[in-house]
Amino acid sequence: MPKDHHTPSSGFDASTAHVDADGYARMYQASVQDPDAFWGEQGKRLDWMTPYTKVKNTSFAPGNIDIRWFEDGTLNVAANCIDRHLETRGDQTAIIWEPDDLGTDAPQHITYRQLHDKVCRMANVLLDLGVEKGDRVVIYLPMIPEAAYAMLACARIGAIHSIVFAGFSPDALAARIQGCDAKLVITADEAPRGGRKTPLKSNADQALLHCKDDVSCLVVKRTGGQTTWTARDRDCLALMEEASDECPPEEMGAEDPLFILYTSGSTGQPKGVVHTTGGYLVYASLTHEIVFDYHEGDVFWCTADVGWVTGHSYIVYGPLANGATTVMFEGVPTYPDAGRFWETCERHGVTQFYTAPTAIRALMGAGDDWVKKYDLSALRVLGSVGEPINPEAWNWYNEVVGGGRCPIVDTFWQTETGGHMLTPLPGATKLKPGAAQQPFFGVQPVVLEPTSGKVIEGNDVEGVLCIADSWPGQMRTVWGDHARFEKTYFGDYAGYYFSGDGCRRDADGDYWITGRVDDVINVSGHRMGTAEVESALVAHEKVAEAAVVGYPHDVKGQGIYAYVTLMDGQEPSDALRKELSDWVRAEIGPIAKPDLVQWAPGLPKTRSGKIMRRILRKIAEDDFGALGDTSTLADPSVVDDLIANRMNRT
Ligand code: WT7
Repeated sequence: MPKDHHTPSSGFDASTAHVDADGYARMYQASVQDPDAFWGEQGKRLDWMTPYTKVKNTSFAPGNIDIRWFEDGTLNVAANCIDRHLETRGDQTAIIWEPDDLGTDAPQHITYRQLHDKVCRMANVLLDLGVEKGDRVVIYLPMIPEAAYAMLACARIGAIHSIVFAGFSPDALAARIQGCDAKLVITADEAPRGGRKTPLKSNADQALLHCKDDVSCLVVKRTGGQTTWTARDRDCLALMEEASDECPPEEMGAEDPLFILYTSGSTGQPKGVVHTTGGYLVYASLTHEIVFDYHEGDVFWCTADVGWVTGHSYIVYGPLANGATTVMFEGVPTYPDAGRFWETCERHGVTQFYTAPTAIRALMGAGDDWVKKYDLSALRVLGSVGEPINPEAWNWYNEVVGGGRCPIVDTFWQTETGGHMLTPLPGATKLKPGAAQQPFFGVQPVVLEPTSGKVIEGNDVEGVLCIADSWPGQMRTVWGDHARFEKTYFGDYAGYYFSGDGCRRDADGDYWITGRVDDVINVSGHRMGTAEVESALVAHEKVAEAAVVGYPHDVKGQGIYAYVTLMDGQEPSDALRKELSDWVRAEIGPIAKPDLVQWAPGLPKTRSGKIMRRILRKIAEDDFGALGDTSTLADPSVVDDLIANRMNRT
């Protein structure tokens, strides 16, 4: 753990920041002492069709996890993100679209008025296809404006969207279409990314083979690439041309679902995280404004994909609810070269830039010259998200990218939390590289003793991170399985929301996330359940058994380390290693591909047959000096073999 230290005050002009240190302390106290009053006031940042009279109605009580915010209010998310801005900023750019390849496509500036036109047209297309309020629509698109139109079109008519990241395989897509019983899939012919094209439509075709016959498919012609058209396919852009550009927004209850987003957990299949309408939007919009110190006229760029929650909250919903100009980037940080981010920041005058440590580390490795070539003087705030940022990367981001002028907000949050939970605030927090530092308004972090579940008071302590009470952006349930919601997040520590992360509260009371304490690993800021990778591996005919753990990786944060026991008679070989890695890639997607595969004649198991993952983690970390107690193993000698043949020697 790095030594805690405060950075020298940067050149950031704190006088115009929304919140200063005293303001933060005051507002935070108010938010936790009287949540009804605090959030009742904050809720007014949205336009309500029927104003709410109740604010917070939440229970973390065992057996009765029930979370409602603004429950008797009604509103429409699309109307809040578009219509209400038309009078004052109809001609302002809402979305700047930055294509993958500037040689083939030009950036687009889409005004709020144009956004209104497109979203209404797409909403009418959905209605014509029979999509009704409450129906689920799966979105499997590249990072193109149509992805935002599709989200907002669903919101406009009250359909529930579920975005599947375009990097996911046909099988993963099929599981999600089935999981939420979607009526329609919106996809594109191909997804250009880093100069390569992913055949989304053909992936969707394969996925739909496993789904009900009556799922329709709306196809956006992105590249014009060859695709086969079937009876269930419709041409999205052609239908939008013909559709009316007016579509009244549906009146939604604050607690009606807005979207489902599947995310990996420590066991079994990914969970459908459900976010609802009112509380989510209040929270996304307030965090966007305060955490990034967003002001009128700013150009905000979050480099995430809308396939992840970061893209939902901080590319689309938060910024558009605030009437911001938001950048949507189709490509990757290193295409056509390692200057792409910085060139794009210069060209669009980006004022807030929000990315993941893995990208920062990769670009740091490419050298400072790529950054110094460009004028980044418009930048005011930098953000980091997805995993802990190591101080070396933090310092580079601060000095080379931010020129020492831009506060870095290291935002800790999760798919489940809807928006930021722990984060410094620009101008209000003295920054510590690597720490997520302080709770956002309304968030009550507690550190618990992992085994007893006792609350650890005081500072300079370490344990698991839980949250003591609800905040408006919190997920409400797991789609179709409220019992799983209760068990996963409230089952281990009664009365608390359990994050799954370990944390330290330092001597000053600042929080440091120490990483997941469950069987979830974080690869390049993407969350992966080890159980998912294991089940993909054992689905291969040559694999008898598999155990997967994370290990430290210089660029990705964590890499995927797989221990594989082959079926009797199968010969280990490098070719088979590659075959298995490619198999997992095809089963789940490129992000799940194992980095290292070790042949394990046996796995360390207790006499009752439970795999001792602690030992496997240690070996993968190349830290087998302190394996702890191995006396309960059925056959302690397997450990020696695993150590001798480990893949991660340093
Ligand atoms: C997990 C959530 C919502 C953000 C994108 C990832 C880790 C996230 C940080 C941070 C340390 C972080 C945690 C968390 N994480 N942000 N600033 N510092 N760790 O969302 O896929 O739901 O993953 O990402 O381990 O539990 P996600």
